[in-house]
Amino acid sequence: MKKETIQPAKYLTGGLDLPGDKSISHRYGMLAALAEGTSELRHFSAAADCHSTLACMSALGAEVKAGKDMVRVTGRGPRGLKSSWRALDAGNSGTTMRLLTGILAGQEFSSKLTGDDSLQKRPMKRVIGPLREMGADVRAREDNFAPLEIRGTRLRAIDYQMPMASAQVKSAVLLAGLFANGVTSVTEPARTRDHTELALEEFGVVIEKDGRTIRIHGIGGGNGSGELTAKSLDVPGDLSSAIFFIAAASLFPDSNVLIHNVGLNPTRTAILDLFASMGASIQILGLKSAHGELIGDLAVKGASLKGGVIAAEQIPLVIDELPMLATLGPFTEEGIEIRDAAELRVKESDRIAALAENLRRMGASVQERADGLKVEGRRTGKLRGAEIEPRGDHRIAMAFAVAGLAAEGNTVIRDAECAAVSFPTFYAELNRLAER
Ligand code: S3P
Repeated sequence: MKKETIQPAKYLTGGLDLPGDKSISHRYGMLAALAEGTSELRHFSAAADCHSTLACMSALGAEVKAGKDMVRVTGRGPRGLKSSWRALDAGNSGTTMRLLTGILAGQEFSSKLTGDDSLQKRPMKRVIGPLREMGADVRAREDNFAPLEIRGTRLRAIDYQMPMASAQVKSAVLLAGLFANGVTSVTEPARTRDHTELALEEFGVVIEKDGRTIRIHGIGGGNGSGELTAKSLDVPGDLSSAIFFIAAASLFPDSNVLIHNVGLNPTRTAILDLFASMGASIQILGLKSAHGELIGDLAVKGASLKGGVIAAEQIPLVIDELPMLATLGPFTEEGIEIRDAAELRVKESDRIAALAENLRRMGASVQERADGLKVEGRRTGKLRGAEIEPRGDHRIAMAFAVAGLAAEGNTVIRDAECAAVSFPTFYAELNRLAER
């Protein structure tokens, strides 16, 4: 497995384009396969996860042509998917597995859905539960884990009060609702990313929103309402990938980085508010709206970060950015404390354990807790380069590569290529922007 050596940097400078947003790419890829005709998805994510989604949709009968920066998907309408003779492979991608389970539950055929070792350890009961209330027949190992066997059936609409704030669960129920008889509603306990709702609307599906409740009209027996039309769409750059460069630039007073075309959907930007409240210098330029999503450029300069506590309803809004935030802890004045984030234990790795272990390897002072961690600030001394074990988790690998830029001595990231799950060109871009 490939190692990547990160040398200390003086500062970061230059312009940067990011891969297309991972969450949006998954949704566009799936909905394009359910639409009638050919959709053009420009700046579709290069992430391995999104290509797992495309491979699944192709195995289900959609025609997928992936070019360098554009993916063309030809679907045959919402009832046009066909059964795949082999198991569908979601790879490392929880979004692929959970959203696709919602779609497959309402088809007229059976499917098997599997993934890599990490994905086979992640809980699926959270989607299986509500889908069963809709009449779905989903079987899982220990009733919770992939491989999943989904015997497609006629679904009935439900009103689902989500017990947890999860965009993936919300999306699985809404996508199943598209194939159900009647109106399905989902009420979330706290706001989560709304790309599924926005993407469904883009493809022509009527979505009603009322506070934290979202309603979708099902196509049921297939009476024509709920048809999806092929679209030509642009995917914005991925803010969750931008975070690694925002963090890296912030670490050095002389940094000056311009990140182009970043997705700034308000259900994703809590992380920018958090950075700003800690003293980061981030300016949004050229804000515009496209396909229901906000997009802008981010100008980032070096800053002295204060640190702080991240907890409660903030957590679902910054869930993917917590590895980077925790890793910044030793560079902040007050340190970083994360609470109410037990969910981090069932991400691509047990991120609380992975963060604590690797931060300690670099000499940080860390308290690991069941639902988070407390990382001491810069008073406990400078981090030193170390060998990092990312546990196959892309965000752990990238977060520690950033920390390595400001540590003493070299940092070696083991199994570094796992970054390709969301950001295949990450190290090349980091090295291009880092002045040494
Ligand atoms: C995602 C939702 C989040 C996030 C994941 C992508 C999505 O998961 O962590 O990386 O695209 O819907 P949960 O909704 O399970 O919190």
